[in-house]
Amino acid sequence: MGIKIALAGKGGVGKTTTCGLIIRNIIEANKGTVLALDADPNSNLNEILGIKVNSTIGAIREDFKKNAPRMTGGVYKDQFVEMNVHQALSEGKGFDLLAMGRGDGPGCYCYANNLFKKYIEMLQGNYGFIVMDNEAGMEHLSRKTTSDVDFLIIISDPSPRGILTASRIRDLSVELDINAGETFLLMSRVEGKLDARLERDIKERGLELLGIINNDPDIFDMDLEGKSVFDIPGDSSSLAQVRNILKELKI
Ligand SMILES: Nc1ncnc2c1ncn2[C@@H]1O[C@H](COP(=O)(O)OP(=O)(O)OP(=O)(O)O)[C@@H](O)[C@H]1O
Ligand SMILES: [Mg+2]
Repeated sequence: MGIKIALAGKGGVGKTTTCGLIIRNIIEANKGTVLALDADPNSNLNEILGIKVNSTIGAIREDFKKNAPRMTGGVYKDQFVEMNVHQALSEGKGFDLLAMGRGDGPGCYCYANNLFKKYIEMLQGNYGFIVMDNEAGMEHLSRKTTSDVDFLIIISDPSPRGILTASRIRDLSVELDINAGETFLLMSRVEGKLDARLERDIKERGLELLGIINNDPDIFDMDLEGKSVFDIPGDSSSLAQVRNILKELKI
């Protein structure tokens, strides 16, 4: 099985952007094939990666609900899953993307969630790396969508509240025993050096700081122009900082 990296953190701290930067670095260094997982029901990892999404697990789930009554006895739910797994994948250069999405109707995401987990299990052996973007907050932990990962990277903005949320996410991941090999904190959107008071806060909360990513004007431009991480200049600071972070992880 490939190396699995999951990102977590509060809203808007840079999870999806960092996911994209990790994926670009892995591909450009020819480290191996990548399965990108978008576990945010409000999918947008595809935009950061510059590709269109074929279908989402949520859409396949809706399709199943509509067609199930017409399927003859021979086709069971599990077979349906297997039959549709390739339809759910979107292809990029050097990576595939699987997006969870959400169903149309009311109700909870449980089924789409379970289907997503099943697809991940089926697919993950085919890739060198699995990089998972998550929705803000902790629900992906309590649902165990994020489980059995080599690296759980919790992202925070440079604020005490961000670090507090990060420590709560770390605590919950331990409490729920999601089976994360190593858990790190990554400070993103930092202006200049990290404030010494924040560094102290990080230490006091027992978080292990993996590194920092500065506020990068190239990311700002990418966002405004609706471009992807593959469009930012090769010498962008954020790209280089993520490369160093991957080195720290021995990737
Ligand atoms: N290193 C960076 N430098 C400058 N801007 C950044 C950086 N990282 C992220 N951003 C910007 O911050 C905003 C939020 O980023 P992003 O969507 O990656 O966060 P997120 O944690 O995935 O958000 P959500 O919780 O909504 O999923 C975007 O406008 C993005 O362009
Ligand atoms: Mg996001």
